[in-house]
Amino acid sequence: MSKRRDTVRHPIFARTYARVGAAAEGKGAAEHRAEMLAGLTGRVIEVGAGTGLNFRHYPPGVTEILAVEPEPLLRKLATEEAARSGAPVEVVDGVADELPAADASFDAGVASLVLCSVRDQAAALAEVFRVIRPGGELRFYEHVVAESARFARFQRAADVVWPLCGGGCHASRDTLAAIEHAGFVVEEVRRFRFVPCFVARPVAPHILGIARRP
Ligand SMILES: C[S@@+](CC[C@H](N)C(=O)[O-])C[C@H]1O[C@@H](n2cnc3c(N)ncnc32)[C@H](O)[C@@H]1O
Repeated sequence: MSKRRDTVRHPIFARTYARVGAAAEGKGAAEHRAEMLAGLTGRVIEVGAGTGLNFRHYPPGVTEILAVEPEPLLRKLATEEAARSGAPVEVVDGVADELPAADASFDAGVASLVLCSVRDQAAALAEVFRVIRPGGELRFYEHVVAESARFARFQRAADVVWPLCGGGCHASRDTLAAIEHAGFVVEEVRRFRFVPCFVARPVAPHILGIARRP
C-alpha cells in the first residue's frame, strides 16, 4: 500500500469555514457555484469538497460525484450535506495530490476555493488532469493573485500569515497559469472581485471558468 503524501487536519479552520463558507452563500457564492457547475454532465470528481456547498448546485445531467475531502470535520459535514442535498454524491477521504481514482475515469473535475490551499498545487493539478478523460473538463472557481501588481504585492505580504489562519490557504497563487501549466486548455474564464466579508479582502480577485483536457 502506498504511503499517503499529504495530511490535512485543521480543526479550528474547519469549524470557522463551516460558518464563514455558509454565510458567503447568501452574499453571492451560491450563484458562483451554480454558474461554475451549469451544464455539467456525467461522472464528476470534486477535489477538497469542504462542507459540500457545491452539492445542491450539480445539474441533473451529473450522474455520479466522487467528493474527495481530507479534513475529518469537513468530511463529516460534507457527508451530512450529501444526504440532505439528494445529489448522487459519495464523500471519501483522500488528498488532491493522490486522488483515489483511476486514470481518465471521470468526465469532469471540479475545484472550488481549494487550489489556494493544497500544499503542492502542481501535483494536485497533475492528479486532476490524470483522472479526467481526454476531452473532459475542469470547472474552477478560485481566488487568485491580482492582475494589479500593487494588489499582488499586498497579497504576497498577506501570505506571510494568511496560510496560518486559513487552513493553508494562500492569497497570491497564480492558479490560472498553474491550470494551463498542468496541460489544460482554458476555454472560458471570468475574472471578478468578491469580498463576502471584510477579512476576505486579500482574496478578493477570483476566477471562474472551464478548462479542457486535450
Ligand atoms: C476553503 S475550503 C473550500 C472547500 C470547498 N471546496 C468549497 O468550495 O467550499 C478549502 C478546502 O481544501 C481542502 N484541502 C486542503 N488541502 C487539501 C489537499 N491536499 N487535498 C484535498 N483537499 C485539500 C480543505 O480540507 C478544505 O476543504
